[in-house]
Amino acid sequence: MIEVRNLVKEFKTEEGTFRAIDDISFKVKRGEIFGVIGLSGAGKSTLVRCINRLEEPTRGDILVDGKSIINLSEKELRSARKDMGMIFQHFNLFMQKTVAENIAYPLEISSKDKGEIEKRVEELLNFIDLREKKNSYPSELSGGQKQRVAIARAIATNPSILLSDEGTSALDPANTESVLNLLKKIVKEFNMTIVMITHQMEVAKEICDRIAVMQNGKIIEENETKELFRNPKSSVTRSFIKNLEDEVEEGYVNSDDYKGDVLRLSYADDNYDKPILSKCVKKFDIDVSILSGNINKLNISSVGYLTVQILGKEEERVKAIEYLRENNVSVEVL
Ligand SMILES: Nc1ncnc2c1ncn2[C@@H]1O[C@H](COP(=O)(O)OP(=O)(O)OP(=O)(O)O)[C@@H](O)[C@H]1O
Ligand SMILES: [Mg+2]
Repeated sequence: MIEVRNLVKEFKTEEGTFRAIDDISFKVKRGEIFGVIGLSGAGKSTLVRCINRLEEPTRGDILVDGKSIINLSEKELRSARKDMGMIFQHFNLFMQKTVAENIAYPLEISSKDKGEIEKRVEELLNFIDLREKKNSYPSELSGGQKQRVAIARAIATNPSILLSDEGTSALDPANTESVLNLLKKIVKEFNMTIVMITHQMEVAKEICDRIAVMQNGKIIEENETKELFRNPKSSVTRSFIKNLEDEVEEGYVNSDDYKGDVLRLSYADDNYDKPILSKCVKKFDIDVSILSGNINKLNISSVGYLTVQILGKEEERVKAIEYLRENNVSVEVL
């Protein structure tokens, strides 16, 4: 469906030539959700902008359904673009237009007749479940609702490809969920192909069939989502996964799920590097496993948090907790 071959994009800057995309190749199948993750500056936006030809690639080829979209006439390019919808982090809605007028816009510029436009707008409003907001203005909508309107606008002309550049990055978890559900529905009902640019690993994990990891303009790793998580090869991928695990575990640790005690330990910075926990394990008849910890928080507030599970007889566990407290570790039993 989409095939990118040896794509290179260079920018001329005052300091010389900067290569933002450095020989990238990949294929995306019809009906697939393909994720591209990477740190800021990796080249993700430049890559999607090349795919819809907002940027002129320096070298390489991009094929859609086997047909190159590189050397097209103006007219052919316009029609190729109509086959690609795009959504952005900040929605890019027309603030002076109502929801219905925003959705109608791409239909108007492709000179559909009025009746047809009205019918399609109604259909899309139902599809995104926002019929009651038809005459509202974007400023009256939540972030998730705005993005759903932007999606309706992007798919109004029935494109076969939807490109999302950080489409959920500005949303809270609940709104992210509603947008992801809508994207899944689009793939299911219209067999659309989606390229999802994101730096949010939790988003990629939930929705993508395959993920490519970008660094310095290159794809350094690409795999099916499950495989990428099971067997990450690059350190960038591992750190994306690790950050995700920390967040998830912080939120979901539930003491009922574990035997023994689940403790949240806070270390003040002056004793962080002392091996209090390992001493504690040696001193008492307990086992400790670390459930989560957050080093980032450590750097910011010079307090380290660690959530641990201790297993053992109750009297040993009580003594261990006392020992930790005596050593200036604050212990909260969860
Ligand atoms: N028009 C331009 N001229 C010069 N350099 C550019 C231009 N556009 C992008 N770049 C550079 O190309 C690199 C990749 O930028 P890009 O916007 O694709 O990154 P990104 O992965 O989308 O990052 P982010 O996650 O911050 O959005 C950056 O170093 C950027 O400074
Ligand atoms: Mg970007």
